[in-house]
Amino acid sequence: MHLNWEIVSRSKKSNIKTNMSLSLIGRAVAESVTLKLNETAAILRAKGEPVIHLGIGEPKSKAPLDAITAAAAVLNTGDVRYTPADGTPAMKQAIIRYTADFYKRMVEPGNVIASSGAKQSLMVALQAILNPQDEVIFPAPYWVSYPEMVKLCGAVPVPVLPEDGTFYPRMEDIERNVTSYTKAIIINSPNNPTGVVYSEDFITEIIEFCEKKNIYLIMDDIYNRLLFNGKKPLSCYDYLKGSIEDSKIIVINGVSKLYAMTGFRIGWAVANKKLIKVMTNIQGHQTSGPSVVLQAAAVGAINGIQSCVDSLAMTLENNTRVMMEQLNAFEGVRPNKPDGAFYCFADFSHYEKDSAKLAYFLLDKVRVITVPGKEFGLDGHLRLSTCGSIKEITQGIERIKWALDPNSPNELYIGERKLTRDWI
Ligand SMILES: Cc1ncc(COP(=O)(O)O)c(C=O)c1O
Repeated sequence: MHLNWEIVSRSKKSNIKTNMSLSLIGRAVAESVTLKLNETAAILRAKGEPVIHLGIGEPKSKAPLDAITAAAAVLNTGDVRYTPADGTPAMKQAIIRYTADFYKRMVEPGNVIASSGAKQSLMVALQAILNPQDEVIFPAPYWVSYPEMVKLCGAVPVPVLPEDGTFYPRMEDIERNVTSYTKAIIINSPNNPTGVVYSEDFITEIIEFCEKKNIYLIMDDIYNRLLFNGKKPLSCYDYLKGSIEDSKIIVINGVSKLYAMTGFRIGWAVANKKLIKVMTNIQGHQTSGPSVVLQAAAVGAINGIQSCVDSLAMTLENNTRVMMEQLNAFEGVRPNKPDGAFYCFADFSHYEKDSAKLAYFLLDKVRVITVPGKEFGLDGHLRLSTCGSIKEITQGIERIKWALDPNSPNELYIGERKLTRDWI
């Protein structure tokens, strides 16, 4: 098998001719690697290549019926118009209800904004609070978009890797990186890419710390209800001493991951009213409000039968167990045990320290898509998604093992195709 290197190895920066008059910010921002990998998988699949996509960050289940019927009802009216920039009244009510149900906190319409994806909620929140040169701290490994979003605001991303070699952020590491420029801290639990769920002690400490230091705390809760091993979602408001109006906590959520609705592009933020007003002003000039059809779908999902979220969490827990069994039996690979979300983050540095090189090698040799740890701020690792079927997971890891482990047999069949290993 020979890969069209054009498709996958176009470097992020080589796309951009530096002599063109592009903005500094535009040039500083990297391509979304995960979206690029999805595109690559689609191109290869269209060519009939037997690709296994362990890079994907979206559940494979269908969107809930409640979402589809609600969206169809709006479409059937033919009345598809602009909405208020911060969301339709029904969407805002659904977010208020969601916050009451899952965070045990009553908020008001002025405390919430609906956006075109959690990504946009995060982006407008950052635009609302950051000045050029402000610093934003987030634990590493981190979600690929945090540094780029911060850069888009002209501000400075400050990733912090726990010094004890675990993926559990520690206050001492974070505090060491706080300066007079620190404007915000972003935390994401369960975490993308590690699946780590942060402890109650850490959440309590960081909330107290941010309150004391007057720093914004952005809680990216997009995977909040996708938990395993008996873990229960935490509500940051349980640890907040003052009121939401006096607080600088911003909670981000969305329908993409919980309800398998990535393509609907609806997310939201909950925060103090002053901040939501500024975020609304910004969003109003960017995209106006999110689509009325898609907001109706999100309202349908949030107000509809919730068993789909529990059954997704159960499927993911089972898939994760299978992937961990396989990775634990893979000599030379050190996986981290996830307690939520849908990724295993594993140390492959025994085989190859350059994770991008390794990911391209695996795509080239065995047509398995993985995401290089480098993209999440930690080289030597690969992020493997558990969103696929058990068959895809077992075959994907089997192919990777075959490509890397000298003890595996010299030949591998992928369908009718016989591969012979000539590189070990
Ligand atoms: C940690 C994290 N936050 C936010 C998002 C964005 O979600 P949405 O699809 O709602 O924009 C993602 C998507 O991959 C994510 O992993």
